[in-house]
Amino acid sequence: MSRLALLAVVLVASPTVAFAQQGDVARGRQVFRVCAACHSLEPDRNMTGPSLAALWGRKAGGLASFERYSDALKSSGIIWDDRSLDAWLTDPDRMVPDNAMPFDGIKEQRDRADLLAFLKDATKPGAAPAVTAQSGTGGMMGGGMMGGGRVPNLREPQTSERVTAITHCRDTYRVTTADGKTRAFWERNLRLKTDSSKDGP
Ligand code: HEC
Repeated sequence: MSRLALLAVVLVASPTVAFAQQGDVARGRQVFRVCAACHSLEPDRNMTGPSLAALWGRKAGGLASFERYSDALKSSGIIWDDRSLDAWLTDPDRMVPDNAMPFDGIKEQRDRADLLAFLKDATKPGAAPAVTAQSGTGGMMGGGMMGGGRVPNLREPQTSERVTAITHCRDTYRVTTADGKTRAFWERNLRLKTDSSKDGP
């Protein structure tokens, strides 16, 4: 009698334990939606960010087909695994200052665990992409103006807004501005503003 009861307890308890350790893949798939605006899971399908296919064991900044890595990430010496990805997704700027990922991080430990459980499966070589990546234009669709509708003043642009040179290679444009900085853009994210109204230059 007591052995039967013990067996029942073990049977009920063990899946819960495994679950807590591994993270919830289905929940992780939902969390990944915020990443899918910038990252695909298909090999070498790069968007604003690099493809995440075959991520585990990869050197940070090491995907040859992605040409817009920051120097900071490329020289970080990080190898992506459970631990380094958890730190990166908690606070990217803290782990790699001056990185180029426009993302604040996920503060909830459980969300990160679920996301990593999902990603570990979905990025395995040969895994079918489980989330259809979006068009990659993120929130910039809809024909409206970027920047919350404020009319840009093109007559007196700041040095950081005045373009002095553009170069182009494959899917990447490098834009140099009058403040001396050069930024790399995925071709579908590049927008130039012109203004032919009386407010324009
Ligand atoms: C707004 C776009 C954007 C979002 C949202 C975003 N990323 Fe990124 N991600 C990037 C960019 C750009 C880089 C390259 C950063 C660099 O070079 O410094 C990057 C880099 C990475 C890398 C390093 C890849 C490598 O090859 O070294 C990982 C891992 C990553 N992101 C995971 C995620 C995950 C997971 C999420 C969602 C929680 C996410 N990112 C959200 C744009 C984004």
